[in-house]
Amino acid sequence: MLALKNLQKSYTDAGEKHTILNNINLTINAGDSISIQGASGSGKSTLLHLLAALDKPDSGEILLNSSLDETQTENQDITQFTERQADQYRQFQVGLIFQKFNLIDCITVMENIMLPAKITGKVEHEYIQELLNALGIKSHINKLPNQLSGGEQQRVAIARGLSHQPPLLLADEPTGNLDSKNSDLVSQLLVDTCKQLNTALVMVTHSRKVAMLTQQQWYLDDGSLTRI
Ligand SMILES: Nc1ncnc2c1ncn2[C@@H]1O[C@H](COP(=O)(O)OP(=O)(O)OP(=O)(O)O)[C@@H](O)[C@H]1O
Ligand SMILES: [Mg+2]
Repeated sequence: MLALKNLQKSYTDAGEKHTILNNINLTINAGDSISIQGASGSGKSTLLHLLAALDKPDSGEILLNSSLDETQTENQDITQFTERQADQYRQFQVGLIFQKFNLIDCITVMENIMLPAKITGKVEHEYIQELLNALGIKSHINKLPNQLSGGEQQRVAIARGLSHQPPLLLADEPTGNLDSKNSDLVSQLLVDTCKQLNTALVMVTHSRKVAMLTQQQWYLDDGSLTRI
């Protein structure tokens, strides 16, 4: 589905070059569930931003399998996308979940969830009902996000990340703001929901316990990504 080849990313700070990601290689197949751990500042969010085509590497490729896009016959390198192509890729292929929910407070829970589905024109009511059931948020759909607890808001953010049925879900510390009990519950729900929908999941987490819920555990340290 996505193949990362020799990815390199650095930032220049006060004239000094810092290599954040060094020769990263990773293959993400349909339905895979992958967690990425690593110290603060090790480059986990940077890597997710590259996968979401929100940022570009210095060198290397991220090949998107042509089978995901009927209009393409060859694999495409998302690092070479124009802004328009990157927008399309994010709209149709990727779901994003952020650490701080990023829900829109002035519209209802349901309107938040439906945003990506409406943008892509992929509104399937049966699927949305399934998602609401799986995440246990049916009774909250007419509320505003700030009328929900942190754990409930995060479950809404998961539903929003999945409402347009993306083949890939990228989650940056999706339970980082929750207490350990809710973190365990919500991350289990996230992994189970992706499995049920055959959505590939790449999840950044600080918690070893949460990481153990995914099929593959990877660790980012000193620019290198290794499987643990
Ligand atoms: N736009 C930028 N310009 C310069 N340096 C940056 C930029 N974005 C990130 N960095 C640096 O790159 C390094 C990796 O940042 P990143 O946000 O990817 O870390 P992280 O592993 O996600 O950390 P955390 O666990 O704290 O979220 C950090 O040292 C950070 O200061
Ligand atoms: Mg981060």
